[in-house]
Amino acid sequence: MAACQFRRAIAAQVSRVLDRPEDQLIKSISAVPVYKKQPSADFQLFVSSVIERGQDYPRPDTQAETQKLADKLRPDAVVSEISTGAGTVNFKINRELLAKEVVQQVSNDGPEYGFKSELFSGLAKGKTLVEFSSPNVAKRFHVGHLRSTIIGNFIANLKEALGHQVTRLNYLGDWGMQFGLLGVGFQCFGHEEKLRANPLQHLFQVYVQVNKASDEDENIQKAAHEFMRKLEAGDMEALGIWQRFRDFSIEEYIRIYERLGVHFDEFSGESFYREKFQDVLKLLKDNGLLQTSVKGTGVVDLSEKGDLSSIATLVRSDGTSLYITRDLAAAIDRKTKYDFDTMIYVTDKSQETHFRHLFHVLQLMGFDWAEGCQHVPFGLVKGMKTRKGDVVFLEDVLDEARSRMLHNMSAAKTTKELEDPDDTAEKVGLAALIVQDFKGPLLSDYQFNWDQALQNRGDTGVFLQYSHSRLCSLDQMSGSGVLKSLNPACLLEPQAICILQHLLRYDEVIKKSSEDLQPKHIVNYLLVLSHLAAVAHKTLPVKGSAPEVAEARLHLFRTACSVLGNGMRLLGITPVSKM
Ligand code: ARG
Repeated sequence: MAACQFRRAIAAQVSRVLDRPEDQLIKSISAVPVYKKQPSADFQLFVSSVIERGQDYPRPDTQAETQKLADKLRPDAVVSEISTGAGTVNFKINRELLAKEVVQQVSNDGPEYGFKSELFSGLAKGKTLVEFSSPNVAKRFHVGHLRSTIIGNFIANLKEALGHQVTRLNYLGDWGMQFGLLGVGFQCFGHEEKLRANPLQHLFQVYVQVNKASDEDENIQKAAHEFMRKLEAGDMEALGIWQRFRDFSIEEYIRIYERLGVHFDEFSGESFYREKFQDVLKLLKDNGLLQTSVKGTGVVDLSEKGDLSSIATLVRSDGTSLYITRDLAAAIDRKTKYDFDTMIYVTDKSQETHFRHLFHVLQLMGFDWAEGCQHVPFGLVKGMKTRKGDVVFLEDVLDEARSRMLHNMSAAKTTKELEDPDDTAEKVGLAALIVQDFKGPLLSDYQFNWDQALQNRGDTGVFLQYSHSRLCSLDQMSGSGVLKSLNPACLLEPQAICILQHLLRYDEVIKKSSEDLQPKHIVNYLLVLSHLAAVAHKTLPVKGSAPEVAEARLHLFRTACSVLGNGMRLLGITPVSKM
């Protein structure tokens, strides 16, 4: 029997007593959360969610029902004790079975531990498109883009682990007036070598310079409009220049995303839809959805009463497209290309109305698949500064995290001799950024603080990395490759049981995150796991213990290390084995 089958075994017994299908009951049985102390039971059944609600009035007395149910249940080979709590029947699993099965299951399932649980059986798997990061070429890569990058990556990882076929899409802001300005600006302020060496930085510099110049010189503005007009008209020379800016930028983006451990299956962008939006307009007109406003713009009525009290503007009075028009064309194009079941957009919350309008227009156009489109919004990060000042480039944030971490590591007494300290500092620094960002609800704004994020102790990514590396080194120090079979009777101390109990809940935690797409459930779970591992590390020594005991403890630590590593990777963190 497998560990995750504990829930099934309990459900089977309850099912016989209540005469209700097992599968219905499974969802009402959950692992008891472990915080600091060992809970007295491993699973609880919420009685109010399983008792029949008949016609009786007043409502049935839950506590009496709970007792009645508990009285009918009997301990067996799996369940050693049955008790009652407030509205719950509690089950304690046979202690040796608990240790044996959890250790075995984690080792058997590897990265799939938790995902193979019965909680996910029968859940629909499909094609999922995740659009995230999506910076604007030649403009600032702000903290919002960083958040979108790490959140989108997490969602894509999670969906993939759940068995969906995932496509990761980057939708660049690669069209618009900034290219008119750049086209002109590059002739005045551009340097070919700088463009090749540091495209993002150089284009941004040119953009800032030409912007300033255009404020003072009307001719520059005119020239920029002329360049943009050429681009829109498909002038080959202008397009050639634009294409080079775009290509160089993407090359550099890819390199930086690699540092983050993020990749994309496709770099799309607004430019792809600079003409295709015409087809969308035609469709809208054919359906009688596009109206001309008094200002001469093209609008779609989103109001319930049909009185234009809520509208989406899709065409400017000069006939050019807007952000939402290109997004409409992009969504329809993606549906044709990928035939997705779900499409997720990750941006800051200021774009909530935009996406609501986008999905609404798609619905009006008769595209029922718009049901499967979802916007995941997140809040603002305040105060993220580097030594150079405000964040302008993603690379600056990564460099800052790495150098601060390097500094902290060289000051810490516990730091090990490392082959590549830069690389370790980078991975730990990144973990710190991710955990800081994922700890709370995504929608909340938060104040960023380097010192807080990089603390060794406390609930940080540094602490997760430290715990992981400590568990790894324990394993290595003992020089143990394959461990001898486990004697579960050696894992009966409360500190060991706490870890095992906590591991029982991993599938429920993943399930929560998969339902609301919030990483905080997993982050907090891993932080607790790390704390429990630290306590066990202190109280359950391997060195100096009898061989059988040492072996059993190594099994336990290896198990904890494995789940910790799995969870970290899901979040987009690369666990380090030494620091
Ligand atoms: N480039 C946009 C920005 O920086 C984000 C794009 C979001 N995705 C979309 N399909 N509109 O604000």
